Amino acid sequence: MKVFFASVVLTALAVPAADGPRLKDLMPPGLLIGAALSGAQVDGRDAAAQAVVVRHFDTISPENLLKWTSTEPEPGRFTFEAADRYVAFGQANGMAVIGHNLVWHQQTPRWAFEGKDGRPLDRETALARLRAHITAVAGRYKGRIHGWDVVNEAFENDGSWRQTPWFKAIGPDYIAQAFTFAHEADPQAELYYNDFDLYLPAKRKAVLALVGDLRAKGVRIDAVGEQGHWSLQAPKAAEIEAILDDIAGAGVKAMITELDVDVLPRTPEMEHADAARKAEWLKTTNLYPAGLPDAQQEQLARRYAEVFGLLLKHRSQLTRVTFWGVTDAQSWLNGFPIPGRTNYPLLWDRQARGKPALQAVIDVLKAAPAR
Ligand code: XIL
Repeated sequence: MKVFFASVVLTALAVPAADGPRLKDLMPPGLLIGAALSGAQVDGRDAAAQAVVVRHFDTISPENLLKWTSTEPEPGRFTFEAADRYVAFGQANGMAVIGHNLVWHQQTPRWAFEGKDGRPLDRETALARLRAHITAVAGRYKGRIHGWDVVNEAFENDGSWRQTPWFKAIGPDYIAQAFTFAHEADPQAELYYNDFDLYLPAKRKAVLALVGDLRAKGVRIDAVGEQGHWSLQAPKAAEIEAILDDIAGAGVKAMITELDVDVLPRTPEMEHADAARKAEWLKTTNLYPAGLPDAQQEQLARRYAEVFGLLLKHRSQLTRVTFWGVTDAQSWLNGFPIPGRTNYPLLWDRQARGKPALQAVIDVLKAAPAR
């Protein structure tokens, strides 16, 4: 290892020592930095990752702990033990604790979408379920959650409404209703709309029309989250800048809420392919099962440097940057869109050691103009 990092080319990418700078100390004022935590990271079973979190971050998100399946698996039966531990962990460490999420079409139990007596879900029942769920969950953590992802992923990539069970039963105003219920349950909490691929102009336009509509109605919305599930090449710098400029132009703050950089081949067809095709792709696209080669490690570091350079340039428009996980071992991209791959999207490796990409981010933050 020593010999490897002594080489001139890689000196700048040396893996940072555990007592090196903390990301949260290097961020500009008003720009939080965080990660999504698993239950094991909250509990301390994943002690190495937990130490990284405490050291580097001033905000946390729940990777799965506050989703509907986790908090209300059966009608009116709430299971808050793991979520309570998550919120307590963030509070004990003085972090801005994020809630993710109140309304989504995934990780929501089947019962929530079933109509009465085998009929399709009707508006009144759907609204009552949304209100009861949001009131119970956001109400339980009233005053302790910095901000909620109220609605996640309501639009298709072409800008049309995603035909979710909520949309079909209630209509487009399900979003305003959900934000209103959330605000009633926790008037102090910031409220967010969260989605991915907002670099696509049609999708971004639809989201920003929603923001305009909520604001015109007087419904609280503080920020739009771009998830930031990006790759080594896409989206391009200008596309990332357009996301931030346009969100700010709509009168709300921007956040990058689920940042990671996929280093494996990915096509849109992969997501909805059947298991047999996925098994084929596993064979052809799991390129680095035994470790990320130096060239790709450097490419990842350069991409993270580019991304953080852009985020710093737009820092007045941004309030938060959150990675979707702490270590590569935890990343959902080991299982999505193809199960069983070995991916390397984050700043810490499988042993929770800082990668060259971490050093690259530190270098960009250190070089940023004085505050
Ligand atoms: C993912 C989690 O990381 C996985 O552990 C889980 O199996 C599926 O969901 N967009 C979101 C996140 O808003 O909630 C998703 O998280 C990733 C995509």
